[in-house]
Amino acid sequence: MAFNAKHLLGIELLSVDQIRLILETANTFREISTRSIKKVPTLRGKTIINLFFESSTRTRTSFEIAAKRLSADAINISTSTSSIVKGETLIDTARNLEAMAPDAIVIRHSSAGAPHQLAKFCSASIINAGDGFHEHPTQALLDALTILDHRPSLKDLRVAIIGDIAHSRVARSNCLLLGKMGAHITVCGPPTLLPINFDQYSSLAGSLTVTDNMNKALDQADVVMMLRIQLERQKEAFFPSIREYFRYYGLTGERMKFAKPGAIIMHPGPINRGVEIASEVADGPYSVILGQVASGVGIRMAILYLVIGEREQTGLGIES
Ligand code: CP
Repeated sequence: MAFNAKHLLGIELLSVDQIRLILETANTFREISTRSIKKVPTLRGKTIINLFFESSTRTRTSFEIAAKRLSADAINISTSTSSIVKGETLIDTARNLEAMAPDAIVIRHSSAGAPHQLAKFCSASIINAGDGFHEHPTQALLDALTILDHRPSLKDLRVAIIGDIAHSRVARSNCLLLGKMGAHITVCGPPTLLPINFDQYSSLAGSLTVTDNMNKALDQADVVMMLRIQLERQKEAFFPSIREYFRYYGLTGERMKFAKPGAIIMHPGPINRGVEIASEVADGPYSVILGQVASGVGIRMAILYLVIGEREQTGLGIES
């Protein structure tokens, strides 16, 4: 099957077959990261610009590593060192970068829809690395790849997503992806951090339940996905104190007794220990948090290959 999409703007726009193709391609590409020489010529001669208007450790680094493992040239631009600080608009910045003929622009921006705007103005492929509260598609894809390392299928899996749902693009992309793949999702957080009409992210094939009761959300869960409190996106106090928040919504070993035995624990990072998750579970035997980070490289290799590589070649070009 061909990917047949120039951009990756969100999970909402992907079909189940496209999601499967990304996961299968990522699974194949992951092997390259285990070699002593971690480089193949698949995207030689391609140029990828990482344009990050918000801070990032995992996403930006793994897009850069992914590009380099595929022999593409990767250039990183951050807001503080670019002419954006002199007042240049997003579209002008993108048009100027376009004049240098990149093949793909990876963008993270605090405004929902910024990558979609760029896609209208640019001829390069646009990849959404997180836009405001809206979507973080590569995070949901790497989460799915990680779950499949531990479970045979996403279908009928019970997934609890707990924390600051209101401000989380990760929650939205995961609900869309896991729902399309037939999982049963429960989102949970304090009532003030549960958006109205969140069931619009309900799936085609699975189900979506919303609750403010953490024990109910954890009940018989196969996967527990914890989310950070996004203080940088909050303009008011949504809960009385961190201590209070941890008491009702912090994941501890004791609380994990409500989940299925052996349930895996996920977190997109960065984690706030003692706020949404206790160190005993973040570092415990059922945590797959660092596995998620490792999966990110394979997923981003797959995305870069599928949006800018596939049209010009057959095969993955990864023979060692
Ligand atoms: N998960 C995630 O997006 O992490 P970064 O903000 O470090 O990229």
